[in-house]
Amino acid sequence: ILVYPRVLQNLFPLTGVCRSPLGMSRGQILDEDISASSQWSDSTAAKYGRLDCEEGDGAWCPEIAGEPENMNEFLQIDLRSLHFITLVGTQGRHAGGIGNEFAQTYKIKYSRDGSRWISWRNRQGKEVIEGNRNAYDIVLKDLEPPIIARFVRFMPVIDHSMNVCMRVELYGCEWLDGLVSYNSPLGQQMTLNGHHIYLNDSVYDGAMGYSMTEGLGQLTDGMCGLDDFTHSHVYNVWPGYDYVGWTNESFLSGYVEIMFEFDRTRNFTTMKVHCNNMFSRRVKTFQKVVCYFRSELDWEATPISFSPVMDDVNPSARFVTVSLYNHMASAIKCQYYFSDIWMMFSEITFQSDTAMYNTTLAPPKTGPPIRDDPTHKVDDSNTRILIGCLVAIIFILVVIIVIILWRQVWQKMLEKVSRRMLDDELTASLSIQSETFTYNNNNSPSSVSSEQESNSTYERIFPLGPDYQEPSRLVRKLPEFSQTSEDTGEFQNVQEGVPHYAEADIVNLQGVTGGNTYAVPALTMDLLSGKDVAVEEFPRKLLTFKEKLGEGQFGEVHLCEAEGMQDFMDEDFSFDVIENQTVLVAVKMLRADANKNARNDFLKEIKIMSRLKGPNIIRLLAVCMSSDPLCMITEYMENGDLNQFLSRHEPEGMIALLSNAPTVSYSNLHHMASQIASGMKYLSSLNFVHRDLATRNCLVGKNYTIKIADFGMSRNLYSGDYYRIQGRAVLPIRWMSWESILLGKFTTSSDVWAFGVTLWEMLTFCKEQPYSQLSDEQVIENTGEFFRDQRRQIYLPQPPMCPDPVYKLMLSCWNRNTKERPSFQEIHQTLLDCKP
Ligand SMILES: *[C@@H]1O[C@H](CO)[C@@H](O)[C@H](O)[C@H]1NC(C)=O
Ligand SMILES: *[C@@H]1O[C@H](CO)[C@@H](O)[C@H](O)[C@H]1NC(C)=O
Ligand SMILES: *[C@@H]1O[C@H](CO)[C@@H](O)[C@H](O)[C@H]1NC(C)=O
Repeated sequence: ILVYPRVLQNLFPLTGVCRSPLGMSRGQILDEDISASSQWSDSTAAKYGRLDCEEGDGAWCPEIAGEPENMNEFLQIDLRSLHFITLVGTQGRHAGGIGNEFAQTYKIKYSRDGSRWISWRNRQGKEVIEGNRNAYDIVLKDLEPPIIARFVRFMPVIDHSMNVCMRVELYGCEWLDGLVSYNSPLGQQMTLNGHHIYLNDSVYDGAMGYSMTEGLGQLTDGMCGLDDFTHSHVYNVWPGYDYVGWTNESFLSGYVEIMFEFDRTRNFTTMKVHCNNMFSRRVKTFQKVVCYFRSELDWEATPISFSPVMDDVNPSARFVTVSLYNHMASAIKCQYYFSDIWMMFSEITFQSDTAMYNTTLAPPKTGPPIRDDPTHKVDDSNTRILIGCLVAIIFILVVIIVIILWRQVWQKMLEKVSRRMLDDELTASLSIQSETFTYNNNNSPSSVSSEQESNSTYERIFPLGPDYQEPSRLVRKLPEFSQTSEDTGEFQNVQEGVPHYAEADIVNLQGVTGGNTYAVPALTMDLLSGKDVAVEEFPRKLLTFKEKLGEGQFGEVHLCEAEGMQDFMDEDFSFDVIENQTVLVAVKMLRADANKNARNDFLKEIKIMSRLKGPNIIRLLAVCMSSDPLCMITEYMENGDLNQFLSRHEPEGMIALLSNAPTVSYSNLHHMASQIASGMKYLSSLNFVHRDLATRNCLVGKNYTIKIADFGMSRNLYSGDYYRIQGRAVLPIRWMSWESILLGKFTTSSDVWAFGVTLWEMLTFCKEQPYSQLSDEQVIENTGEFFRDQRRQIYLPQPPMCPDPVYKLMLSCWNRNTKERPSFQEIHQTLLDCKP
């Protein structure tokens, strides 16, 4: 089992979440930053090597001249700054069926400074990566160990059998630590009961002579060692793999000195060193550390020194945090003093400010890898202006916070009032669009745009599994091709094949419309496009605007009344409405000037939605496609969402009697919960993963009927339910399972977890947020406790009106082990069995 240091210590799951596409397919990487050793023709130049793009002749193809054996053709990507790269994707040249070239195997080289190139090897030392088997499927490979680099080269292995073309994508995130290399004495070898324990730096990518220089390796690979250093969580490696270790016999000075070089001068707050402390084997954390700083050209005379408290009781490996007292430095040299015979580290991280400072005096020794990055130009401006800017930004932030708070209060009031003002609503032509929202197609976690990007460019794999799946295999598991396959082992793969928010390039909370966030297992859209959309065109003029439900950068979601909707519904679906009466519908509109990508995504969303036909799932009723803006019309239920519905009500009892508030009986509550379970049973039978199940996403109709929808993220009202990680992903963490948060895995089992939370919300009548006493950071910390499973995790408490069997059901949904969580089938049955 892996512990990601940043997951549990710094509160952001780097390896779990750091998996966003870096912009080959989406175009954030510019043509000029993509180059190649050669090209077959102008129409197969480097810039056409973008994953999932069909421009030019459909891929990059090198010119094959001479003997393939000596060829070193490459496609090079310049990321403009250091990135932590965890995953790569490759694809061949398909060109609509004309092409059939792909790379069966390839290698990767990378560089941080553009001059020293390093061949990537996996943890077992293998350089060659298995690539594609056909010209169209995307194959993704986890990079274990991950790469920290600015430049990456894909080097197809070329042989006589076929021509090679490639389209590629890199996944990861920016490397904020800024560390470009560490120099350290070589790790040593321990002999323990006749066995050798190799404590060398197994993945160091610099030079290894008498000492290690100019590289990064095990101390920055995002992986912490186990308590017992003789074991490793990496499969098939030598004992001691996770640690770099030294014995005091080789260091007469009593310390090991490691020097760290950074990309620029930074303002350092802390250093965290992950140390082994297996004292029974004479391994202990360092007893003292002395650190020197080089801010300009010289080393400062006065070091800082720190002595951690020695722990002779608890043998677990741990992070030791050393405060660096806001020293400015571009290099740090630390001397770690032995406190016993052995000292072993598995990870060292640095925390520093992210502001830019004047660094013209101190170019880092290992080369200036990010000099020409436009975002680092600020370096040359002077500090005073910068401080001025910071003050201004803080001021603006304060203003924004005030506005947001004010809007939330206002919105809550509006929500209450507006439902009672149906009569004097304005009628708006839907073609008149608000000018205030802008479309940007990278931004939406719930929108299908990012969804499809994930679907097509990304098959979710367990972060460490070297395995991958071809979409064509998964296609067979689509509803048309299979009935439910819940009991097969393969089903697990499908679930894991589901993409998650983290890969999508999510930036902005406002950048979200009420899209649905259903995830489709590695759905190839080609397959769908062969099918007719069985959704009819609805005349726009029959829609009457009532209220805005949400908005985002993609468009808006409106609550409308529709006339004559009955004629548009297929026979197997009956809206319980009287002939010629208007019905409430939700209308999702795409901004009229949206670009091609957004339109395609919108069409794909329609195709997905049109397949969902369960009694407890919101249905797509009709579309308006004949003119702009494109609209998607879905059901809406008269009582709004379950969260608001329950907050307006009280449980039957004294309080309700006294306050004269409307009530919901326990049996109706139970009835509603069963319907949610039934809707989820349906979704899971299709292998759909919802990923945002919560009361805010369930709609309430007549007689307590419930249908599951997905509007949550588009509404400001609920923005507090979502947590933004590193300005990247916006996630409903209070509803998310530990593995979704830490490992980025979204499966039916994580939907089951969310169901448990939803049930809890219902039984508390949505009077408070789950874990309302915990901050977002504490919620994530608690997730770490679930992961560690040392009985320190906090569960949601049993609500006063919740019977024991139902609380037991909730607890089973929050089982640490996904396999031990009940299926929706079982949940549904349990709820039926304990019907009041
Ligand atoms: C570390 O030691 C192991 C075991 O002797 C060896 O196979 C491996 O090549 C070494 N790694 C490096 C980078 O020296
Ligand atoms: C480093 O950051 C701290 C806190 O943000 C600030 O107080 C200090 O002045 C900074 N140091 C320098 C030299 O700018
Ligand atoms: C190494 O550490 C042990 C335990 O602290 C000590 O007894 C021994 O003298 C040290 N060896 C050297 C060479 O300093």
